[in-house]
Amino acid sequence: MRITERKMAADLACDYHTASCNSPWLLRLPVIRQVNYSEQVQELMDEGPRKIDSTSDIKEFQKITDAPAMTLVQALSRRRSSRDFSAKPVALQKLGELLGLSNGLRSRVGNALDGGRNAPSAGSLCSCEMYVLALNIEGVERGLYHYDVGAHGLKQIKLGDFKEWVSRMLLLQSELCQAGALIFLASDQGRLRSKYGPRAYRLGLLDAGHVSENIYLVCAALDLAVTATGGFIDDELNTALGLDGVDDCVVLVLAVGEPL
Ligand SMILES: Cc1cc2nc3c(=O)[nH]c(=O)nc-3n(C[C@H](O)[C@H](O)[C@H](O)COP(=O)(O)O)c2cc1C
Repeated sequence: MRITERKMAADLACDYHTASCNSPWLLRLPVIRQVNYSEQVQELMDEGPRKIDSTSDIKEFQKITDAPAMTLVQALSRRRSSRDFSAKPVALQKLGELLGLSNGLRSRVGNALDGGRNAPSAGSLCSCEMYVLALNIEGVERGLYHYDVGAHGLKQIKLGDFKEWVSRMLLLQSELCQAGALIFLASDQGRLRSKYGPRAYRLGLLDAGHVSENIYLVCAALDLAVTATGGFIDDELNTALGLDGVDDCVVLVLAVGEPL
């Protein structure tokens, strides 16, 4: 990319951010002090976890019953990024606990009775979807999956050994393909935009950030190695997952696996 092109791209990114700021006219309106959701937004909020169309069966995880207990302080003090993964496969139940505790239904842990999730989200729209590339998970065929929150299971998107693709085409750091799984955090910008307009952009990034930190902390508790990376090829990944890259787009990748 030439310098002028790079400058144009930087200006665009700046415009993008500016577009997510409050418009001066909005700040003057008394209506912003009221909660006044449209019918369509209310429907989205009541809808619950998003269901991704797929004909495949769901591989359900077992209940999250005896996930290792650790105090928050212990998890915080153990949390770190590690890029050293062993060849040992990640147990299926561990992957289920990681996904469920990070961004699953609150009712699956403890006694919560509502439909809330384990990560907060703007407008309770749960904009952060989790996709999984299983590279080395015990009892799961290698391939791409979507984490179905309602069913607490994996819905198959495409089976196959994607390790070569990950190291050559997808990630800028090939060592991360030694992980047991890659978790792709996708932002449902379309859902957020219907309520927040251009501000959806920043809220979607924040929603994904909350899920990412939960993943880090749960990995610390489950003794899994983890590293987030923003170094991936957007088009390559969005296309593989069937996302349009605009209304739905991957914003962060987390590599997780058994530690060395
Ligand atoms: C949004 C985000 C993007 C990151 N991208 C990368 C990356 O591309 N490659 C990498 O090795 N680590 C990446 N990291 C991990 C950081 O390098 C790491 O969190 C930082 O060095 C602090 O280390 P710690 O997590 O062990 O405390 C990323 C972390 C975050 C939160």
